[in-house]
Amino acid sequence: MVQAGLAIVDLERWPLHTLDAPAGKAMVARLREAIAQRGYATLEGFVPQATVARLAAEVEGFADCAWPGIDRATPYYGRTDPSLPDPPPGHPRLRTSPRRMAQIAYDQVPAGNGIRALYESSAMPAFLAAVLDTPPLHPMACRYQAVNISVMGAGGCQNWHFDGSEFSTTLMLQKPESGGDFECVPRLRGPGDENYEGVGRVMDGDRSGVVTIPVSAGTLMIFRGERSLHRVSEVAGARRRLLTIFHYDTRPGLTGSLAINQALYGPRVERQDEGRAATVF
Ligand SMILES: [Fe+2]
Repeated sequence: MVQAGLAIVDLERWPLHTLDAPAGKAMVARLREAIAQRGYATLEGFVPQATVARLAAEVEGFADCAWPGIDRATPYYGRTDPSLPDPPPGHPRLRTSPRRMAQIAYDQVPAGNGIRALYESSAMPAFLAAVLDTPPLHPMACRYQAVNISVMGAGGCQNWHFDGSEFSTTLMLQKPESGGDFECVPRLRGPGDENYEGVGRVMDGDRSGVVTIPVSAGTLMIFRGERSLHRVSEVAGARRRLLTIFHYDTRPGLTGSLAINQALYGPRVERQDEGRAATVF
């Protein structure tokens, strides 16, 4: 039986409901291969066009509640390098680039919304754990971070950064008229090698290693962003860029810290049972 949470997914094309059947196994194998080769997989038409257009219109109805947060950030946000406690001026650890985006928090997405239902389904984390070959994944217990929708109007962008988590899962809801491209320098750093020189070059404008990953409305992307420097280029035009970010983790019951949640979602944020310093995308 198809789970209600999967109602927005094109299950003929992406059979998340039958992972143990031949078609499901073949899909998982293909996606694993793509991630091993390139560090990401894009699932075009994960949500059919008519459905994603309806979801985007729904989100536009409450998107003005999104909180803008900080307007510049380093590639590492607050994360530090224990081997470099006091970086010199101009070091990539200290250099910032513009971040002009707002985020809708999980508790601002209405109950019954199809995006929320997908996140809360058991099929979605099971599917991601199969593709990423991880132990079982769990939704976050954080009322703010679990699902976010990023909102970028004209001039919007996201700073160059590495993710704080091993992988991220995003669903494009609405593309802007132009710009808003997902740009990435694959595997710029590796275990034990921060490659600060390479990071500095990219921040200086070196485009030689930059890859633009095409992502259309309705596309799900599974991305390993811990080692690949990435950003969103500047948005142009009246139509806003809307992107959903799903947060799962192998550790059940996680919540973000009060300080990070307030930085991301504004002063309305209340204390929860604190789990760990939060993932920041
Ligand atoms: Fe990211």
